[in-house]
Amino acid sequence: MKLRAPAKVNLHLRICGKRPDGFHDLETLMVPISLADDVTVETSIGRTVRVECDNPDVPLGEKNLAAMAAHRFSHHTGLEFAAKITIAKRIPMGAGLGGGSSNAAAVLSALDTIFETRLGASGLERIGAELGSDVPFFIRRHPAWCRGRGEQVDVWDLPEQLPLVLLKPVFGVETPWAYKNWAASKDLPGLDSGEQDLGWVKVFNSLERPVFEKYLVLPAIKQWLRTQPGVRAAAMSGSGSTMFAVLENGADAEGLMARAKETFGPSLWLVACETEQAQTPRSN
Ligand code: C5P
Repeated sequence: MKLRAPAKVNLHLRICGKRPDGFHDLETLMVPISLADDVTVETSIGRTVRVECDNPDVPLGEKNLAAMAAHRFSHHTGLEFAAKITIAKRIPMGAGLGGGSSNAAAVLSALDTIFETRLGASGLERIGAELGSDVPFFIRRHPAWCRGRGEQVDVWDLPEQLPLVLLKPVFGVETPWAYKNWAASKDLPGLDSGEQDLGWVKVFNSLERPVFEKYLVLPAIKQWLRTQPGVRAAAMSGSGSTMFAVLENGADAEGLMARAKETFGPSLWLVACETEQAQTPRSN
C-alpha cells in the first residue's frame, strides 16, 4: 500500500513555557504542503521490520521513526507481522519540515487499512503521540492549531491557500538542541523578529531566537527574503533549518529562487510548493 506523506510548515509557532517533563508547551499552526515523500508498506508473515530508502542518509535500522511506528502498531494491536517499508524521499532531513514524523504517520495509517483495525484518527493519533510530538498532526494531514507539546490537534481550514518557496542550507538543526537553548537565547540586535500579519495568522517562530544565534546565515536569508518583490512574509519552519517565504498569488517563484541561489550560493536547496487544505492519504 502506497501513501503520500506530506511535509509541513509552521506558519506560527509560539513556545508558551517549559514543562516539568522537559518538553515545551506550544501554540502552533501547522499546515501540510505539496512537497511529499511516498511511503509504501508491504506486510507478510514474520516479525522483522525493514526500511528501504533512496536517500542513503536516512537511518534504516530500528531508529527510523517509520520502523518504530510499525513496532508500536504491533504492540498496541497485538498483531504479529513482518513489514517492508519503502520511502521515496523528497523532504530533506533536519529541516523542520516534519519528514520523519510524516513517514511514521503514513505507516500507521497504512497498517490500519491493511489489517482493517479501524483505530480511526483518534486511535492512530494516540499511538502517533508516543512516536513524536508532530506525528498526530500528520495522521489528520489537514491544517491545524496544535497545542500541548504539539500532539493536541485542532483542525482548522485556512482562509486561503498560499504559494511558498522553501530554502534550506546544507546543514540541518537538531530539534532537542533548539528547544534546549530557547530559554537562554536573545534576539539578534537589528533583526526584526516580530510577527508578520497575513490578516488571519501572524507569521512567527519562537525557535528562530536560539537557532539564529548559532546559524547566522538563517537570519540573513530571512531579512533578504523580506526585501524581495512578491514576498508577504518569511520565517523559519519548526526548529529549522528550512526558511520559507509566503508569496503573493502569481508572484515569480522561479525568479526568487534564481536570485536566492545567486545570493546564498549553489548549495542552497530550494523548492516552490503550496499549502494544502486537506490531504487524501491514499496516492493510488
Ligand atoms: O516529540 P519530538 O520527538 O519531535 O521532540 C524532539 C525533542 O524536541 C524532544 O525530545 C524535546 O527535547 C524537544 N521538544 C520540546 N517541546 C516540544 C517538542 C519537542 O522540548 N513541544
